[in-house]
Amino acid sequence: MMYSRIAGTGRYLPEKVLTNFDLEKIVDTTDEWIRTRTGVERRHCVREDETTSDMCVEAAKRAIQKADVDVADIDLIIIGTTSPDLIFPNVATIVQHRLGIPACPAFSIEAACTGFIYALTTADKFIKAGEAKCALVVGAECITKLVDWTDRNTCVLFGDGAGAVILKSSEQPGIIGTHLGADGQYKELLYYPVGASKELHKAGTDEAGIVMAGSEVFKVAVKTLGNVASQALESAGIDQSELDWLVPHQANIRIIQATAKRLGLPMEKVILTVQDHGNTSAASVPLALDVGIRDGRIQPGQLVLMEAFGGGFTWGSVLMRL
Ligand code: ACO
Repeated sequence: MMYSRIAGTGRYLPEKVLTNFDLEKIVDTTDEWIRTRTGVERRHCVREDETTSDMCVEAAKRAIQKADVDVADIDLIIIGTTSPDLIFPNVATIVQHRLGIPACPAFSIEAACTGFIYALTTADKFIKAGEAKCALVVGAECITKLVDWTDRNTCVLFGDGAGAVILKSSEQPGIIGTHLGADGQYKELLYYPVGASKELHKAGTDEAGIVMAGSEVFKVAVKTLGNVASQALESAGIDQSELDWLVPHQANIRIIQATAKRLGLPMEKVILTVQDHGNTSAASVPLALDVGIRDGRIQPGQLVLMEAFGGGFTWGSVLMRL
């Protein structure tokens, strides 16, 4: 039986940092409101001329270096993002060209905040099926370019960044279990009304921001993520006490605390980046994973549960040994 295993991780965060105090000057909000409701203290924002592919390339270089692989060995590229450079060509092909990776399947997956979990799960299947041996998997967003900076309900939540992993075939797991889900009935609670179909655009223009019913999203996220985490452990026959780390989607500290509580996991076993990164959508899980690995908390052989929830709604988990 062939498994997949993470061989290296990397991250990139834009240089520009926007604190809650900076936001107080932009919209009617306070540092106190943002911190207590979300846990966010600051977030990184791309420059106007900086793109999702720019961030992917930097994060990927670091993951490639850490994994000690040659770009010529990479035979699959999957990028989870909802803020690609262009509608097409897909951002994975742009990254492929810029990194000099030889011809191979390269595509992006749009599953909102669950994009990286969808991408990693797909790469795992390719490797298990013998279709790939060394995959570059990235979660990346320049979501602050999509944000309406006059809407205090949403602009305080988000940040930009990219997290990358090199996933290699291995005789030892590696990835133990993956679970993906989606339920399209919730579209109206969270969406971005711009795409190829102009008639669906907000007020019939290209002017748009993220449309979000925050407290409704919150309730479904808490319930779903609790179920996702339990399902991941149950189906692998693993007791929650065996879990070393939870690496959750960093949407809101209160959602993360609720999931940890449901798992009976102390917050010391949760990798938290929401305070420094905000909600970076598809980038949030790989960014947090890289932070936890590089600061030495997550050690080789440890059991890690990653989970995410986002627009769609979509959700998913990956249970693995590092
Ligand atoms: N500063 C000050 N006041 C604000 C702000 C702000 N930035 N934003 C909203 N408010 C006000 C609202 O207008 C409202 O005022 P009102 O009562 O006079 O109408 C009040 O604060 C309370 O708003 P609520 O929506 O009840 O606040 P809540 O405690 O639910 O927190 C939040 C809002 C943070 C958005 C929360 O619901 C949340 O995190 N939801 C999840 C949303 C999310 O994570 N979306 C990202 C994508 S999905 C995902 O990643 C899981």
